[in-house]
Amino acid sequence: MNPKEFDLKGYLSTKRTLIDRALERWLPYAVGHAAPVKEAMRYSVGAGGKRVRPILILAGGQVVGASDHLLLPAACAMECLHTYSLIHDDLPAMDNDDLRRGKPTCHKIFGEALAILAGDALLTFAFELMTNPELTSEIQPERINRAVFVLARAAGESGMVGGQAADILNEGKTVEAQVLHYIHYHKTAALLGASVEIGAILGGGCEEDIIRLRRYGQALGLAFQIKDDILDIEGDQNVIGKPTGSDARQKKVTYPSLFGIETAKAKALELLNEAISLLEPFNHKAEPLRAIARYVIDRNR
Ligand code: IPE
Ligand code: IPE
Ligand code: MG
Ligand code: MG
Ligand code: MG
Repeated sequence: MNPKEFDLKGYLSTKRTLIDRALERWLPYAVGHAAPVKEAMRYSVGAGGKRVRPILILAGGQVVGASDHLLLPAACAMECLHTYSLIHDDLPAMDNDDLRRGKPTCHKIFGEALAILAGDALLTFAFELMTNPELTSEIQPERINRAVFVLARAAGESGMVGGQAADILNEGKTVEAQVLHYIHYHKTAALLGASVEIGAILGGGCEEDIIRLRRYGQALGLAFQIKDDILDIEGDQNVIGKPTGSDARQKKVTYPSLFGIETAKAKALELLNEAISLLEPFNHKAEPLRAIARYVIDRNR
């Protein structure tokens, strides 16, 4: 490796370990009368996953000089919220998938009722982590308030849930490019954009930096979902840890289905360049974000 080249593999592995340890420490233990729902929460979070969103919180915060320690509760909150979205996404009423993160999906192990409740609990637990006084005493309350607002808006009907609803409502339909954009922008780019933005907010970034970092995250998020659509066609199930061909089976509106796979790849590359160019004003502290942008479209899982 060129000595000046950023070691993304080492960076991702260090941050994943940090996040996984914190999740292990903070998630509720499977005891008491509701033990199985807590077991289901731990099962799905602990099944693995790339941890892209929590890492984006740490990397976004790094640009404005924040420590991992300060951002870790928010990073874990984002991963819990994301995992909830995956548990519900896999349910028979939605994408009806049996494999997630290389393991049987939550409802396959715990049944639909507990999978729905584990998702609900993870969503709620995210806000508990974001605001837990024992974990956030070093952060100014106004920053926490703003970060919670950004998270709620990106998760709900104006963000991920809105995108998921449009995704379901348009199954089997031929849609305008604008509808496809709405779906991907909301179901995926909203949470990736919010991740980088929350890192910058909690880290005390200035308004200009916060906006720029959010825009980077949104462009990255769109590229991320396009790549996800491509992996559903070209990926290896054993590597991606979830079924391939799921989108075709469910007649989903995707970039490859609407434009063809080559145009989808070109679009992802265009978004990657847009994301990287938004980082121009930032110095070496944005190196992880630059490398993550490349990883998002080079990844095979
Ligand atoms: C899958 O997200 C759902 C999408 C929004 C494409 P990831 O690809 O980040 O899944 P994990 O967290 O690594 O399992
Ligand atoms: C789901 O998109 C995005 C979410 C908000 C969970 P997909 O349905 O394509 O995600 P995968 O491919 O099942 O991970
Ligand atoms: Mg889906
Ligand atoms: Mg799915
Ligand atoms: Mg997919």
